[in-house]
Amino acid sequence: MKILAIETSCDETSIAVISEGPQILACNTVSQIPIHRKFGGVVPEIASRNHTLAILPLLKKTMQEVFPNQNFQNSLKKINALAVTTGPGLVGSLLVGVNTAKTLGFLAKKKIYPINHLEGHIYANWIQPVGEIPNSKFQIPNIQFPAICLIVSGGHTILVKITDHGKYKILGQTLDDAAGEAFDKVAKLLNLGYPGGPEIEKRAAKGNPKTYNLPVPMKKDSSLNFSFSGLKTAVLYLVRKNKKIKINDLCANFQNVLIESLLLKTSIALKTYRPKSLLLAGGVINNQVLRKKFETKFKKELPVYFPSQSLCTDNAAMIGAAAYFHSLKKSGENWYDINISADSRELNAD
Ligand code: KG4
Ligand code: ZN
Repeated sequence: MKILAIETSCDETSIAVISEGPQILACNTVSQIPIHRKFGGVVPEIASRNHTLAILPLLKKTMQEVFPNQNFQNSLKKINALAVTTGPGLVGSLLVGVNTAKTLGFLAKKKIYPINHLEGHIYANWIQPVGEIPNSKFQIPNIQFPAICLIVSGGHTILVKITDHGKYKILGQTLDDAAGEAFDKVAKLLNLGYPGGPEIEKRAAKGNPKTYNLPVPMKKDSSLNFSFSGLKTAVLYLVRKNKKIKINDLCANFQNVLIESLLLKTSIALKTYRPKSLLLAGGVINNQVLRKKFETKFKKELPVYFPSQSLCTDNAAMIGAAAYFHSLKKSGENWYDINISADSRELNAD
């Protein structure tokens, strides 16, 4: 079983081939971060243009890694199915991946699994990349259901209940900015560059979190929703008021209160739903302080899973992994039935 997976929802062009397990046979990603850095964020039109430049060479390279010394047509015959992110994401970016998958599906007469990007992030928890654990066999985690997954990325902050493979219910989500977006916007107003998360984490490691006293977002709110735009505004006012702002200390305080808000809401979800496992997913989960705090707070209560770091940010391996679990239950769709869908509520379907 080999699934060729494509991810182009934002500013990473990524192609992977996944086999049973799911195991990664190859995964290559071209990031556009250097291109968008000067704008302080992703410019949609530039992102889609660059996907069109990157996708075919990446496809060729990935297929050659899995099927060395074979031409593209022959290697395509050895693929059992395709998988592609159909949404949510930037429309122009999604269209590049989706139309590539449709063309391959039409030419090679292969079925396609349309995958929700957020579902992909969740499934990064089920895979280990090649070479990540030297000299060891793949250890697919035996994640018990029901599970709760906190997805924290540049576009989303969502708590999801997973009752079985492919069965989701969104419990809460951000009412305004996503957590990663808050990292990016605060980094932009502090002139720290893009993407903001890694820059803020570096600065925070050298700062004192107690110098400033930013508010913990939604501290007194008992719902499972999040809100980060107020925190961003609080940082803006603090910077305007304070001519000699200590950037490292501010980053440390900002990072702490943002993580505190994620911990609080996750705590409420665990008390309410009593799941058997807690999963974390999305680019913000790369943050080491966040990983440590979640582990320390919850690991006595239940198993806590994180994707390996290279699989937290956008990649096609996670899309292939989600498709792999769908493939155990149903076949994919015909190329002419595949279309983009910008709606994250579709995670509730299945
Ligand atoms: O999942 P992802 O690659 O893309 C989306 O689907 O949005 O997440 C990207 C986000 C960016 O906002 C970036 O600033 C954030 O993840 N991020 C981090 C860290 N590394 C990436 N946030 C906090 N700490 C990090 N170390
Ligand atoms: Zn993502």
